[in-house]
Amino acid sequence: MNVKVLSIVGARPQLVKLAPIAAALASQDHRHVIVHTGQHYDADLSDVFFSGLGIPDPDVHLGVGSGSHGVQTGAVMSALDPILERERPDWVLVYGDTNSTLAGAVSAVKLHLPVAHLEAGLRSFNRRMPEEHNRVLTDHAADLLLAPTEEAMRHLAAEGLAERSVRTGDVMVDVCLRMRDSVLAGTAGAPGLPEGIDPDQPYMVATLHRAENTDDAARLGLLTDSLADLPVPVALLAHPRLVARAEAHGIKLERGAVRVGRPLPYAGMVAAVLGSQGVITDSGGLQKEAFLLERPCTTLRTETEWPETLAGGWNALVPDPGELGASQWAATATRPAPDAPRGTPYGDGRAAETVAAVLAERARG
Ligand code: UD1
Repeated sequence: MNVKVLSIVGARPQLVKLAPIAAALASQDHRHVIVHTGQHYDADLSDVFFSGLGIPDPDVHLGVGSGSHGVQTGAVMSALDPILERERPDWVLVYGDTNSTLAGAVSAVKLHLPVAHLEAGLRSFNRRMPEEHNRVLTDHAADLLLAPTEEAMRHLAAEGLAERSVRTGDVMVDVCLRMRDSVLAGTAGAPGLPEGIDPDQPYMVATLHRAENTDDAARLGLLTDSLADLPVPVALLAHPRLVARAEAHGIKLERGAVRVGRPLPYAGMVAAVLGSQGVITDSGGLQKEAFLLERPCTTLRTETEWPETLAGGWNALVPDPGELGASQWAATATRPAPDAPRGTPYGDGRAAETVAAVLAERARG
């Protein structure tokens, strides 16, 4: 059966997940309408992902922009109503855990449209994270939960959602491994590292953007000091939120080991990670990309939604580098890649095809 799927995306990580889904829906002859909420509007966070990953242009752009959680979520919801009424798809597909995800799920369920949630079942159990509210509420609103891992399936079962859940594998594997192969074949272009980073010498890749790390001046000061003190040059690929908060707090990002660059397109990011000694981040996606690309990762958080990456020491949680002391912090962050096997907890790189097939099978018709 051919189905009509309406994808709601708005933030950078959703565009990465949209790429393999758009390709899989097209290859199985399903109709696909793409709605971009406009949560991310800088070219670095949005346009370059459409061009770089070969995603068709959005059919609808809501242009909501930035705002407080309520303003942003509410703006997406009110703009979506007439679009969803007009399109009446077989599935509204929402991605991940952003404000655009929650807004899409709530709008669709209230119009009695079937909702599928891609990347369902992830939990940090940290109720202070906006992403945690978005995940939990979206999972409970949705009709079909597309879970990337066994762990995610367990979380959904524990919340009474097993019957609506299907394990599909993780679509980020599809796109990450495909891009890795293009980078290694030399067809994906240069990494685009910040000025002052020599790609032929050891360097670290770092990103920092989560509200709990950027919004408090003391916490952001501590984390940026820790990066500056490292013995290896650090390419800090700065999200606009980090730049804005650092400026507001009077914190200079470029100092000591740190060289600041702009967020990279997907190919550039994969190339930068492949060329690096390791990754330091608070991003969920980047923790997993480091794991898939066989680079050790240090995560500046108390918990991770991707606990599979912790096995064998591939990922290490360091919520407070200051507590470790300078030499222990440096040794942890710049540790070599472990020998431990990683297995394939995220699937085999064909998750998007599975998602498309499940959507077709389970459509109400
Ligand atoms: C959002 C998601 C987060 C995801 C991240 C990926 C929520 C609650 N958070 O966080 O889960 O990991 O996207 O990047 O949905 N800004 C710009 N230009 C842009 C977008 C944002 O300058 O194109 C700046 C603005 O100062 C804005 C701030 O970044 O206020 C935060 O943007 P927002 O979309 O609210 O959240 P992110 O931090 O990007």
